[in-house]
Amino acid sequence: MRQALVAGNWKMNGSLENNEALLKGLLEQLDDVTAKVAVCPSFVYLSQARDLLAGSQVGFGGQDLSTEASGAFTGEISAEMLNDFGCEYVIVGHSERRDNHGETNELVAQKTQVALNAGLTPLFCVGEHLEDRESEQTEAVIAAQLDAAIETCGIDAFENIVIAYEPVWAIGTGKTATSEQAQEVHAFIRNRLAGHDQNVAKQTTILYGGSVKAANAEELFSMPDVDGGLVGGASLDAAEFAAICKAAK
Ligand code: PGA
Repeated sequence: MRQALVAGNWKMNGSLENNEALLKGLLEQLDDVTAKVAVCPSFVYLSQARDLLAGSQVGFGGQDLSTEASGAFTGEISAEMLNDFGCEYVIVGHSERRDNHGETNELVAQKTQVALNAGLTPLFCVGEHLEDRESEQTEAVIAAQLDAAIETCGIDAFENIVIAYEPVWAIGTGKTATSEQAQEVHAFIRNRLAGHDQNVAKQTTILYGGSVKAANAEELFSMPDVDGGLVGGASLDAAEFAAICKAAK
């Protein structure tokens, strides 16, 4: 059985006051939740999240990491620093990093390996742009993103990697992929892993991300290869995020 996971990607949002209200509100509403739950705040709020989440069922992680271990890399955060703070997860290869910071498939694969080396669980993001989908390149784009990580990290590493399929056209747009569209790509990803190792493919958690909300979570998460969600905007509202967590089984 794969463990369901719902992770909140707070992106560049939050303040000490809002985060406290959000996390306290969330912790009050998770009684019936069986899925794993995590939040990825901005780096500066990791210590606040650690304190507020101590002893709770909610894990936390970073939104990015450096490939370097330490040294003269102004503005960067290393895997060991995230580990030091008690992070369990780190998002790698989010489309906003790929698009706005020129992260290539190879760099994202390297970051995934560096995260694994530090004992972090990478939330490894893949996804196509609208023009890829319209020109029937979705599978080719995702295959290239996935293959780079398989080549760098090896197929066995996927026992410790969570994949997040996030169609770029669905992120922050309110346009969710239909559950059939999500399932189709999730099955493609799982089959591609199975081409290397069937057992690893069966065990790998694959999340859907892109305008997940309480109103569509149950339908998306009911698909056989969708094991939970990576949630942006809706993770900033405690009641909404808790309802999404409840929908993941
Ligand atoms: P969204 O973002 O839920 O706001 O669409 C998802 C993500 O970017 O991880």
